[in-house]
Amino acid sequence: MFRWIGFSALLVVVLTGTTTVAVGKEEIKDPNVSYRVNVMRSIGSNMGGIGDILKNNLPFQEALATHARNIESSGKLVAMAFEKEAKDPASTALPDIWKDFAKFKAGTDEMVKAAGAFAAATESGDKGRIMGALKELGGTCKECHKAFREKRN
Ligand code: HEC
Repeated sequence: MFRWIGFSALLVVVLTGTTTVAVGKEEIKDPNVSYRVNVMRSIGSNMGGIGDILKNNLPFQEALATHARNIESSGKLVAMAFEKEAKDPASTALPDIWKDFAKFKAGTDEMVKAAGAFAAATESGDKGRIMGALKELGGTCKECHKAFREKRN
């Protein structure tokens, strides 16, 4: 019992400030929406890291495969995270997701596949192949956002 209480207190400390995320200045109240946005942000952060390395030729080339694999594994959580039609004023998800969930899910599969292919390309060390695979991966983000995400500034 004592151990459990200690663990809960620790979780509260560790998670404070991270359980709700904000889009712009708006705070997300629905935990389902908060979760799916956190999953999507982890994918976004890994893409950001890939961009930093490639654009600036940073000495972390071997980290590219890790970022790609991170996107591949987080990508597998996306369909599950969006399955429930949860709404929040701060969300940019369009209702079309739940009108054609099969198409949305297919989009997540495309991303997972492209992330795996990008990981394999980085391991080949071939710059042309790396850039080609990255373009494919980025295309899967764009395609889904265009169809299923509201444009906001
Ligand atoms: C199958 C559809 C789909 C794919 C593929 C997809 N996204 Fe998203 N993404 C969404 C939706 C829908 C939202 C809006 C979620 C919300 O606001 O409820 C979103 C939101 C985001 C956000 C914003 C999170 C925030 O702070 O509000 C980022 C960053 C993001 N995606 C990055 C990416 C990147 C990078 C990729 C490609 C590697 C990608 N996404 C691929 C559907 C997708």
